[in-house]
Amino acid sequence: MDGDHPPASGPLLDRFSRVADDLRVSVTDRCNFRCTYCMPPEGLDWLPRSEILSFEETARLAALLVRLGVSSVKLTGGEPTVRKDLPELVAMLREAHPGLELSMTTNGYLLDRLAAPLAEAGLDRVTVSCDSLQRHRFAEMTRRDAFDRVLAGMRAAHEAGLSPIKVNVVVIGGVNDDEVEAFAAWARETGHLVRFIEYMPLDAEQAWERAKVVPSAGILERIARLHPLVPDGNGTEPATSFRFADGAQGGVGVISSVTEPFCEACNRLRLTAEGALRTCLFAMGETDLRGPLRSGATDEELEGMVRSAVWGKWAGHRINHPDFVRPARSMSMIGG
Ligand code: 5AD
Ligand code: SF4
Repeated sequence: MDGDHPPASGPLLDRFSRVADDLRVSVTDRCNFRCTYCMPPEGLDWLPRSEILSFEETARLAALLVRLGVSSVKLTGGEPTVRKDLPELVAMLREAHPGLELSMTTNGYLLDRLAAPLAEAGLDRVTVSCDSLQRHRFAEMTRRDAFDRVLAGMRAAHEAGLSPIKVNVVVIGGVNDDEVEAFAAWARETGHLVRFIEYMPLDAEQAWERAKVVPSAGILERIARLHPLVPDGNGTEPATSFRFADGAQGGVGVISSVTEPFCEACNRLRLTAEGALRTCLFAMGETDLRGPLRSGATDEELEGMVRSAVWGKWAGHRINHPDFVRPARSMSMIGG
């Protein structure tokens, strides 16, 4: 045996002995924001409806992946809340998988109405993107004057029990990197877990430059100078998380995708809105599951395709190598 075949049973293993058990499911490529680090102002060419998986198709693939060991599912987009009747999908997933960890990453714009129905349908938690605590700057970064509404969305999520709320902050040098301390203070006031994400070359306009990446190490130093931090052990997440040593509520974390890639511990798998499996945000290839699904593939056949795709996952992205090639898709098309 040459060893270059995926195992026929057991968890979803790759060649580097990593186990894929964390699935991001993109439910739409559309978005109601136009964040500068993600989309051009005019939006993108949205997929026609027929190319997007139906809830039944998504639920079938999710069930297959859960059977193969996936224990946590995060709904993403584009912006997942713009998908019509999203609570129905949550209810379907929850009913089929009572013990599944089920969360969603959202820009928060529609959470004021959707938080309660999503929680009732069985969603556990939300991560809300919020890149500035200054209304004007928030509008510049998202190209939508929606700061107050997003804050209202976070309140609704909290009231609906979708907490603790994680907040994603993409830090861009010269744009919002002066707000690190303000975000830490805000985490202590609200109890939110604020995660600072290094800017990645996944923007549709290709404006990313290494000089705009703000290294996580410096961010943590700046916070710890004001509020000593203690590690909040959770080795399985790409985010390195901290609590406040003085016992204040909330917390901070960093996602150092560029300066300290966590690829060797990556347990993620992504299903795009049109039903392709991606083993890495930066992967050059993907595995179409929608075609086989729609032409009548059995679960066993689909399982074989999934196992081969995971087995073929590369060791890691090469953002830091001179031969790095950007993926053709931006974040909204892959699903964060
Ligand atoms: N770099 C880093 N993070 C990004 N996101 C979107 N585009 C980028 C980028 N170029 C973030 C969003 C969201 C998460 C899913 O990914 O802000 O919080
Ligand atoms: Fe929409 Fe998220 Fe992209 Fe912003 S980062 S444009 S909220 S998909």
